Amino acid sequence: DEFPVGSIVHVRKGRFYISRLDEGVLAMWHRCTHLGCTVPWRDDEGRFHCPCHGGIYNKKGEVLAGPPPRPLDLFPVEIVDGEIVVDTSRVITRDRFDPSQATPV
Ligand code: FES
Repeated sequence: DEFPVGSIVHVRKGRFYISRLDEGVLAMWHRCTHLGCTVPWRDDEGRFHCPCHGGIYNKKGEVLAGPPPRPLDLFPVEIVDGEIVVDTSRVITRDRFDPSQATPV
């Protein structure tokens, strides 16, 4: 319930964002896939906007503009007793968004 559909929550300590989609939950590493800058979520723009070279990503982590070569990387997510558990020891790279990447809640 803390993560309504459409919400983006930055978990700084874990270095990721929780993005709540219709399909479920994504945990996206906040590291730009271009050259590694931390990518802020911009509420005013409704998208992620990397300050370094202008990379733009949507809520699914897909690249909308700029030099990033692939979507934001993911960390595996499990739902345990109603809690979101993110394994930040394992990075999942992807070429594009697929609904199967979201963990249903
Ligand atoms: Fe993000 Fe270059 S490091 S666009």
